[in-house]
This record gives sequence, structure tokens and C-alpha cells, in this order.
Amino acid sequence: MSTRAQTLILFGATGDLSQRMLLPSLCALDAEDLLGEELQIVGTARSQLSDGEFRNFARAAIEKYLPAERRGSMAGFINRLSYSQLDVTTPEGYKELADKVGPDRQVATFLSTAPSLFKPTIEGLAAHGLAADNARICLEKPLGTDLESSCAINDAVAAAYPEDRIFRIDHYLGKETVQNLIALRFANILFEPLWNAQHIEHVQITVAETVGLESRVDFYDGAGALRDMVQNHMLQLLALVAMEPPGSFEAGAVRDEKVKVLRALRGLTDEESVTGQYKGGASSGEIVPGYAEELGRMSTTETFVALKAHIDNWRWQGVPFYLRTGKRLPERVTEIIVHFRNVPHSIFPGARLCPNKLVIGIQPEENITLSLMAKVPGIEHEGMTLREVPLNIAMPDAFTGKHKRIAYERLLLDLINGDQTLFVRRDEVEAQWQWIDAIRAGWEESGKTPKPYNAGSWGPSAAIALAERDGVSWHE
Ligand code: BG6
Repeated sequence: MSTRAQTLILFGATGDLSQRMLLPSLCALDAEDLLGEELQIVGTARSQLSDGEFRNFARAAIEKYLPAERRGSMAGFINRLSYSQLDVTTPEGYKELADKVGPDRQVATFLSTAPSLFKPTIEGLAAHGLAADNARICLEKPLGTDLESSCAINDAVAAAYPEDRIFRIDHYLGKETVQNLIALRFANILFEPLWNAQHIEHVQITVAETVGLESRVDFYDGAGALRDMVQNHMLQLLALVAMEPPGSFEAGAVRDEKVKVLRALRGLTDEESVTGQYKGGASSGEIVPGYAEELGRMSTTETFVALKAHIDNWRWQGVPFYLRTGKRLPERVTEIIVHFRNVPHSIFPGARLCPNKLVIGIQPEENITLSLMAKVPGIEHEGMTLREVPLNIAMPDAFTGKHKRIAYERLLLDLINGDQTLFVRRDEVEAQWQWIDAIRAGWEESGKTPKPYNAGSWGPSAAIALAERDGVSWHE
């Protein structure tokens, strides 16, 4: 493992992500003595703040977003913090930042700012020696809006940092159950022999949200569900489900396997995608406005997308991967369902045998359930009655005493330690964009516009038909 960072610079330190996720995550790591004694954290943003004011800001954010039992004493963490005011688009300010960091420090920089600011920021850092030696850079999404803009961002970053020092965040990879998927597949002998087209009939990945636009009107309307959720989080989940066993749990090995899957994604036909946009309705017991009302104008941005994807390789030939995500759906749930094939021959006449299903619940509950057929207790005249029963590993029960972590805790610690395994490599991002761009081009060509759906429903009926045409029902 490479050397630990001694200074972490947070760009966008007074922003929403920093407040809700980064500062609370860092404090939680500190409370468990995971940050190491030496680490200093320098926040930077446009607002004029003293060190003391930034520390007060951080304290308030932690008290709001981190449960009291995870905060530790906080005093030690707050003492690590300092602040340097900086307008990233002007050369002034970087000198003060460099002075604050001090000479000969191992630096990691986290950019949680608009991607349009990445280039000037990186130039400023490089000109002041803050990108030199083993300095690392961490980038938050969105990394572009298509392949071309993503390449431009990646090129700007590559001008100052080699790929092995670039950490692209996909916060889904920091989620405990997403990592557990890797453990489930590769620390057990049980699944691997069955993990292929011969034994798996299809896979479903759902990322459903109950929220609407929140306060992200401009960003979201320029993105839509496909680019906001599928391009990154859902394709990463798909890659982890579908990849070949890597030779080791190391950054290069894992990412080599993921990128092969992403490159093997087949282009979609027009019938293989459905888009939707929510109308007003009832969501989580409340009457909520439609997307256009929230936005204040009409729009053709999709807030829901359902896809039928295929991976063109030997392992997955003929196995559809149904993906769906949307805002204002009936519940917040992220899950992966691996649907096995039925037994080749039934010896139970009259019994309906349900194929085995592995349900990997990612959120809100971390749960892994394997549904199996079992005999219903009792004596029958003939044969036996069978029923599907769940074999349930509820993670919180299996690991009592372990608290739920913020996904950023894992990722920030890996950034500080220099471990890229759970970060996305440039070739992965580009393969993801290539597939997404082709879908969008197809929509444009066929003039596809989102179908309306009621807030609080599971999306347009066409999404149900997309699966039902193949005799598949979405798992609900
Ligand atoms: C973000 C998207 O990347 O992920 C948001 O931009 C979305 O639109 C969020 O709400 C979902 O993350 P999580 O961790 O709440 O599932």
C-alpha cells in the first residue's frame, strides 16, 4: 500500500456534500482512530472564513448529520481542521493554501466542486507544488455529460496526475452491501458454479427513490435518470454482479474485470428501453407536485428509466439484465435479484416450483435472502405440498454491534491510504459513457419522450410490459 496522506485538502468545503457527508465521515473515522495522528484537513471555498469559523461550521454539520454515539469527543477532530479562502478561477489564494499545507507533506485533494472548475483548480494546484510527488486527487461526479465532455475532464486531470493517483468516486462502491457482493461471490464456493447463463435466467437491478427534484433543479434537468443513476451507480453494480473472478482484491485486478463487462454491453434496441417522467400524486403519504411543476416549465428529461441490457460474452449469453431507476417511486429501495433457472424436471406432480432467487438488498435494509423450495410440514395422502421459503441473512442481525456507516467513510479512508480498488478507472468511465451515449442517440433518433407516471407508482406501465413480454415480473 502506498504512503498515507498527511494533508487532505477539501475543495467545496462549505458545500452540501461536505456538510452532509465528508465532514461527518471524517469525524466518524477519527472517532475510531482510523485517521492516523498526523492528518491535517484544510478546507477551502469561496466564502471568507477564519479557521475558527470553519471549525464552527464543521461542528454544526457533524452535530446535524452524524449520530451522537459516533462522534467521539470531536475536539481532536476539530483541531485537525483549518481553512483557506480561495476562488479557484484566479491564481491568488493558491499560495496561501500551499503555505497552510506546508512543505514536504503527502497531499490528497478532494474536489467536490462543479466539474467546470476542475481544470483551473488542477492548474492552480500544480503551479504551487500541490500536485507534485505522490499527491492524489479525488473527483466527485458528475464527470461529464457524455463521452466527449468526460474525456475533456479526464484529460485536464491527467495533465497533472497519473492515473494511479486519480480517485474517481462512485459512492455506491463505498456502501457496505455493495462490497459484500464481492465477498458473497468470491468468498463462497456455493455461487460461482451456478453464476452463468446455464443456471441464471435473468438479473434485475432496481434503484428506486421516493424523493423528487430536491434542490437540484438545474443539475437534474440537464442530466436525467439515465445519466444521473445508470451511467455510474447502476453500471457499477451490474459490473460487480457480472465480472469474472479477479485474480486478487487489488485495484488493477478488480477494475480489469469490471471494464471487460462494461465493454461487452450490447447496444439497446428501441424496444429495450422505457423512459418516464412523474406527474403529481401521492408519495410517502403526501401529495406531491409533478416534475414539470417542480421545475416550473415543461421538460423532456426522464425521471425514470427501465432497460433490458445484455452482456455479450460466454458467461452471460442470453441472460437479460433488467435495470430500472426512478424518482418518486413508492419506496426507497436498492436491490439486486439474481433469478435462477427452474429445475430441469419436476418430480412433484401438481406442485408449482418457483425458481430459486437470490435477493441482495443494498438499502434501506442490508439483507441477503435466498429463496428456496421447501416442504410444508404435514401429512398428505399423496406427494407433498411445497412452498417457497426465504433463507435470510439480515446483516444487522448477523453483525450486531456494527453500526451503519456512511459510504464516504470507506472511500475517504481509502483515498487517505492510497487504495484505488473502490474507485473508478478512466477506462471504466469511458466504457460507461459509450454505452449511455448510444442509448441517448437511439432515443433522439426514434424521438422517444418520457411517458408520464403518477408519483408514488412504479413508473409507466410500459416498464412493466418491458419485463412481462419475457414472462418476467419486477421484484416488488
Ligand atoms: C446521486 C444522484 O449520485 O445518488 C442522486 O445524483 C441520487 O440523484 C443519489 O438521489 C442516490 O444515492 P443514495 O446513496 O441515496 O442511493
